[in-house]
Amino acid sequence: MTRYVGILTSGGDSPGLNAAIRGVGKSALGEYDMQIIGFRDGFRGLMENRTMRLDGGELSDILTRGGTILGTSRDKPHRMPVGGKVRDMTDVIVGNYHDDHLDCLVCLGGGGTQKNALRLKEKGLNVVTLPKTIDNDVAMTDTTFGFDTALGIATDAIDRLHSTAHSHHRIIVVEIMGHRAGWLALGAGMAGGADVILIPEIPYDVEAVAEAIRERSRKGKNFSIVAVAEGAVSIDEVAAATAAAKNGKAKGRREAAAEPPAETEYAVRTVRLARKLEHLTGLEARITILGHLQRGGIPSAADRLLATRLGTAATDLIAKGRYGVMVAAHGDGTRPVKLEDVAGKVKTVPPDHPWVVSARRVGTCMGDR
Ligand code: F6P
Repeated sequence: MTRYVGILTSGGDSPGLNAAIRGVGKSALGEYDMQIIGFRDGFRGLMENRTMRLDGGELSDILTRGGTILGTSRDKPHRMPVGGKVRDMTDVIVGNYHDDHLDCLVCLGGGGTQKNALRLKEKGLNVVTLPKTIDNDVAMTDTTFGFDTALGIATDAIDRLHSTAHSHHRIIVVEIMGHRAGWLALGAGMAGGADVILIPEIPYDVEAVAEAIRERSRKGKNFSIVAVAEGAVSIDEVAAATAAAKNGKAKGRREAAAEPPAETEYAVRTVRLARKLEHLTGLEARITILGHLQRGGIPSAADRLLATRLGTAATDLIAKGRYGVMVAAHGDGTRPVKLEDVAGKVKTVPPDHPWVVSARRVGTCMGDR
């Protein structure tokens, strides 16, 4: 009996999405009696029933392509702007799922997508998800596709910044994506040999950062690279947020972090950090915001491989009727993890993670004392 499988990509795009769509589609069509229906632009496309045929030709020549052929959006089923108002469109989505005779919906996305998929599961839909994000912050999976490509891009950027920082005897503060978790800034900072790495999980003391830079100058190294994650916060900002939360005036840090500020707000913080370091060290500082460059372009070999492994594993689960799970990367293999165990969790960097330990051992300042 033919099974009808819907597929959508949701949240920020990420290299490897097309490889995953191809993995799901080719294995579904080639090995199983399944029909694949693509929905455009994430949950919004499912709500509006905007579909795309994925019956063979569309799955060719997409393995190496960045972005997502389906399009994506950050729309949530239960809070979707429609007709000038934010509405709960979950029932419309459930209706379309049944009208399209779907047996399962495959959702490719990050933390937000896992939560949305769980909501649909709770409405009785058969859902399978795959973990994608350049942030690598999805819980219960070894890694997410998109991360490796972004890691390469950010590392390459740091490599390039080194020579110009060196020539001009400057501090270069490079802002790297990651509003809740610092995996990307940490990984690229380590691989690129940044002198300072600041991540959300380790609030930084700007004085300690300045001292590390001054110490380099004393040793004759009149330049420094500071890799800062979007979500990195100073100890002063944490103290202010905690005090405000106590007074009931503002959200606590954790709550605030769940809703990332607009990218301009990250940039304001990065500029403020650079100006302070300039003031405290007497060195000139410049800022580089890598931004969406980190999400664009050709996926790395590792991401293509991971996305293909996860995509094909998804169809095996669908064939077995194993729904309500995320296909997690687990060593060389994959494993299904219940959506309840993933949704609402963030995989942050443990402050004693081996990467952090190694970074410190090679003399990298992590912003604390
Ligand atoms: O979650 C992935 C991510 O790339 C984050 O690192 C970044 O903070 C955010 O998306 C940017 O989102 P948008 O593309 O909506 O500006």
